[in-house]
Amino acid sequence: MAPVRTGIIGLGRAGWGMIASALGARPEEFKIVAGADVIPGRVERLAAEFGAEGYADYRALLADPNVELVVVATRSNTHVSIGLDALASGKHVLLEKPFALTLRGMDRLLRRARRSPGTLIPRHNRRFDPDFVHVRELLATGVIGEVREVKLYRHGFNRRNDWQTLRRFGGGQLANWGPHIIDHALRFLGAPIKEMYSDLQRIAAAGDAEDHVKIVLTGRNGRVVDLEISGGAALGDVPYRVFGTLGALTCDGKKTRVKRLDPTRLTPVRANPATPRNQGFGNAEKLEWIEEELEARPEHPVEFWNAVYAALHGNTPFPVTLAEARQVVRVMELARRGTRFEAPFTE
Ligand SMILES: NC(=O)c1ccc[n+]([C@@H]2O[C@H](COP(=O)([O-])OP(=O)(O)OC[C@H]3O[C@@H](n4cnc5c(N)ncnc54)[C@H](O)[C@@H]3O)[C@@H](O)[C@H]2O)c1
Repeated sequence: MAPVRTGIIGLGRAGWGMIASALGARPEEFKIVAGADVIPGRVERLAAEFGAEGYADYRALLADPNVELVVVATRSNTHVSIGLDALASGKHVLLEKPFALTLRGMDRLLRRARRSPGTLIPRHNRRFDPDFVHVRELLATGVIGEVREVKLYRHGFNRRNDWQTLRRFGGGQLANWGPHIIDHALRFLGAPIKEMYSDLQRIAAAGDAEDHVKIVLTGRNGRVVDLEISGGAALGDVPYRVFGTLGALTCDGKKTRVKRLDPTRLTPVRANPATPRNQGFGNAEKLEWIEEELEARPEHPVEFWNAVYAALHGNTPFPVTLAEARQVVRVMELARRGTRFEAPFTE
């Protein structure tokens, strides 16, 4: 099959540094035929490296009949307006995260997408992260029993000062890393949200947007997902820490440590209401812990761009649905309210 003829709008850190380089490495599946940026040098560089058509105005790229797929990788506050124009062109559209900053913007996109012959794909590339897929696969085997709490932490310390620290451009960690980790959180939660708590702060970055995001979700299944994305956490924790009824696991992105009990070697334990005779606390039984270290590699990896290619050729629907992408925007919007409340979710 012929490669997908692709045009990229916005040739910055994502559009050039991540997307053009990834597509350039997949010539069988994608061909970069056009690029648009308001900075002329960036358009010239793309044209020179890929033999692509360069545009100063993204609307000219949308009018280029040679382009089948449009990738939108401009600043976050422009995704809805450029995304709507791209959908109106009838082409396929791959939209960078955050899809939208508000649910209202998201719903405008979804309504437009329903009327467009093109396919709208959310760039939820971190759904395919090997460590995330691996931890999910592992938990699905029941290795630590029933999962009760999942902690997802992305910690660092950065006195950041680019546009991603300014709210008027859609900056802040809620819209930056938020879509990725909220999507992970919703997958780990595995049930509709019953309750949600959030707190946004600015700790180390410049600007007026948050660089510290805390969200706690409780599912209708009783499971808790505790999520933190922070540029103000100088002593951070591992990205994944999970507690279950038979043990726990941690994953640092490369290695996974599992500490678990074999349920067939446990005798039932019952609560005793009597006053303890031995004056000790807890249960004195000797637990036979099984401790393992595993490579954080999935058994069934899927690559983001392969999934995009398959979706555009109608082979397999893109694994991240638009309904799931909408749920992420909904949690972002609720988190911004920064209050604790009973979430009125129905899905
Ligand atoms: N999915 C991911 O893993 C990931 C990673 C990084 C960034 N992003 C997202 O990508 C988007 C861009 O982030 P970035 O860090 O690359 O920003 P950036 O500032 O480095 O790049 C944005 C580019 O868009 C260009 N631009 C701005 N307005 C334009 C317009 N109207 N028409 C054409 N070009 C225009 C700018 O000149 C610049 O080259 C953000 O929304 C961000 O959230 C996603």
